[in-house]
Amino acid sequence: MITTDTRGAHGRRDIPRLPLRDAIRDFIKNKGGRIDMRSGLQRQHREFGNVVRRGGGPMRMVTLFGPDANRLVLLDGDRIFSARRPWMLIMGKIFPNGLLLLDGDVHHHHRRIMQPTFKRPVLRRFVEHMHPMIESGLAEWTSTSGEIRALPRFKELTLDVAASIFLGVDLGPGSRAMKTAFEDMVAASMSAIRLPLPGLEFHRGLKGRRHLLDYLGGLLAERRKNPGDDMLSRLCQAESETGDSFDDRQILDHMIFLMMAAHDTTTSTLCSMTYLLARHPEWQDRLREESLALGDRHPSFDARAELPNLTHAMHETLRLYPPLPVMPRVAEAEFEFEGYTIPAGTMVVVAPIHTHYMPEWWDTPETFDPLRFAPERAEHMRHTHTWIPFGGGPHMCIGRRFAEGQVRSILHQMLLRYRWSVPDDYRMPVQQAPISVPRDGLPVRLSPLQ
Ligand code: HEM
Repeated sequence: MITTDTRGAHGRRDIPRLPLRDAIRDFIKNKGGRIDMRSGLQRQHREFGNVVRRGGGPMRMVTLFGPDANRLVLLDGDRIFSARRPWMLIMGKIFPNGLLLLDGDVHHHHRRIMQPTFKRPVLRRFVEHMHPMIESGLAEWTSTSGEIRALPRFKELTLDVAASIFLGVDLGPGSRAMKTAFEDMVAASMSAIRLPLPGLEFHRGLKGRRHLLDYLGGLLAERRKNPGDDMLSRLCQAESETGDSFDDRQILDHMIFLMMAAHDTTTSTLCSMTYLLARHPEWQDRLREESLALGDRHPSFDARAELPNLTHAMHETLRLYPPLPVMPRVAEAEFEFEGYTIPAGTMVVVAPIHTHYMPEWWDTPETFDPLRFAPERAEHMRHTHTWIPFGGGPHMCIGRRFAEGQVRSILHQMLLRYRWSVPDDYRMPVQQAPISVPRDGLPVRLSPLQ
């Protein structure tokens, strides 16, 4: 245990530092913090408070806890936090120049050009377009044993939907190579060993990127000539209010990043929600009744009001299992937080996986309780930054409405078609980082309704 109120050589409060042995213990126990980040963060917060430092020199990292910290870092009113620098380290070789990997004015400029592609009328068309695909995808979810692994099924479904909505292509056998390339890239961006050596995951990811650039380059030329209703065509036509647009290279980089940002996060949410509804059959029944009452296999894009309980359950899922458990930034200038001075160059981390469970802000935070999001209780409104699965501020997820529409549509149709369960003693083993995912693929027992 260290004291937290000491003064450093310059009269400043020293930032509590996580002892090296604790950092090493967490690293080894959790395979680099990947398996269970939450308990380590909870321990640090309990022992040291809202500001905890780890590492030193160029590797200095500070974790800031709680909604005030989330607001400071994510809103970034003083424009001192770079998202580009940490995200470049994490995925820059595989997904360079995606929106999240841009900072400041450049980021703002690109986001404005992209914004019309995510406007309500466009999203409504996207969501309407995905309904029949979801319906036929789900119809194939049978197996002789009655058990399926949900993770690969959701991956397949969301990738097929993405190919159609984002690129305007059907993922038939001809585009298998594209699918493999994409999956290799995603795996490489999360790979622990980032060396371009043949045989390694990372090498396959780089190869996948080259393949995808070739494939999308051809598609882009076609969409420039004959635009369709897909996201790629819309990015080709996208213009900011001042008439600025993207060049071909920028479109390719944005497109590849968008597919990645959409794919894993949505798959993660679908798995977690499937698990929670299997563990809470009373909620599954309740949502099924709501979906049956809607009496339409294809809810409208604005079904938030039509399916309120489904929406609350989705928000509760994102609280308990935020797909991105932590968000990193690099401070480009010195800043203050709660009396501590944090130097320029520090990697600053905020942690939805911790804030979402803080008993100071949530009633019985370990409990699955979707109605905490109902207007009468609205626990998430106790502070602007207690519920942050989609981040906040300038880098707030641009695909939030798209993701919510897709998750709602898939769950709605699952509820109308199947009942699913897990054994009473089953607990989903989760790998929390870099993206929350069931380590066993989430086996569930699926029985068709009627
Ligand atoms: C449940 C699903 C999703 C979750 C939980 C999620 C979460 C997030 C989070 C936390 C961030 C901010 C990261 C940071 O500040 O460091 C983010 C950014 C982003 N997301 Fe999502 N996302 C989801 C789905 C999607 C979808 C479907 C798309 C695209 C169609 C998308 C595109 C993006 C993009 C482009 C950014 C960067 C925005 C910027 O830098 O301005 N996301 N997402």
